[in-house]
Amino acid sequence: MPDLYAVIGNPIAHSKSPLIHAEFSRQTGQDMRYEAILAPLDGFVMAVAIFRKCGGKGVNVTVPFKLEACKISTRLTERAAAAQAVNTLVFDSDEILGDNTDGTGLVRDIVVNLDFVIAGKRVLLMGAGGAARGVLLPLLEHQPQLLTIANRTAQKACELQQQFSAYGSIASSNYADLAGQRFDIVINATSASLSGELPSLPAGVFAAESLAYDMMYGNGLTPFLQFAQQQGATHLADGIGMLVEQAAESFFLWRGVRPETGPVIAMLRPET
Ligand code: ATR
Repeated sequence: MPDLYAVIGNPIAHSKSPLIHAEFSRQTGQDMRYEAILAPLDGFVMAVAIFRKCGGKGVNVTVPFKLEACKISTRLTERAAAAQAVNTLVFDSDEILGDNTDGTGLVRDIVVNLDFVIAGKRVLLMGAGGAARGVLLPLLEHQPQLLTIANRTAQKACELQQQFSAYGSIASSNYADLAGQRFDIVINATSASLSGELPSLPAGVFAAESLAYDMMYGNGLTPFLQFAQQQGATHLADGIGMLVEQAAESFFLWRGVRPETGPVIAMLRPET
C-alpha cells in the first residue's frame, strides 16, 4: 500500500500539484500516491480528519485554507509561524506539524535556478497580503542590503515592516513614493495579475541587470512582467519555478529525499 498524500483546496481542479508530485515520486522511486481533495469552504478540518483516518501521511494546503491549516497545527516551524500560514502538514501519530515552503520555494528559484544573488541587493516586494508575508522571512535570511515592502494600502506594508524588522533591513512604502529609487530584484506578490491589473509602480525602479519576478503565472507574460520588460528589466521570471520548488520542499519534508526540479519546471512551462 503506497503512502498517501494530497493537496486540499477550494477550488482544486486547476492544481498542478498532483502532476508535480507524481513526477517527483516517479523520479525518486518513492512508493506514494498524491491526490487532489476538494474540501467544502466550511469543511477543511473535517477533510483533514478523514484523510488522516484513511492513513494519509501529509497534505499540501492551498487557497483558502492556509490560515486554518496554521490553526490546526500542533507544532509550527519558524517560517510557518512568521508567515502565519501553512501550506504543508506532516501527520505523526499524535502531532500535526505545520510548515510553509512557499518562501523557501521562491528563494530557491531565484538563487539556484535563476542564479541570482539576493545577498547585498536591493529588493522590492510588492504586496502586503498573505503571499507577501509568506516569503518575507526566507528572503530576509539571504540578507539583502534593503528589502522594501510596497503596497497600495501603505499601512499594511508598514505593519509587516514592524513585524519583521528584527530579521533584517526593511522599509515600507506606497507605490508613488518609490519614484527615484532603483531595485535589483522586484517581486510581485500582489493578486493584481489575477484581474489583469498592475500595481501603479512608477517608471524607472528597475536597476541595470535587474530581475522582475511575478509569483503568479499564466500563458505568456503577466501584465507585471510586460511592464518590467518595457522598463528594461533584463531578467523576467514567473511563478512556475516557485510552484515546483515549494512542492519539492514539501516532498523533502515528507520523504527526506530532494527531487530534481529542473525537468519538472521544463515540463510545466509551455514552449515559447
Ligand atoms: P494573497 O494571499 O494573494 O496575498 P491578499 O491577502 O488578499 O491575497 O492580498 C492581496 C494583495 O494584493 C494586497 O497586497 C493587495 O493590496 P491592498 O492591501 O492594498 O488591497 C494587493 N492588490 C490586489 N489587487 C491590486 C491592484 N489592482 N493593485 C495593487 N495591489 C493590489
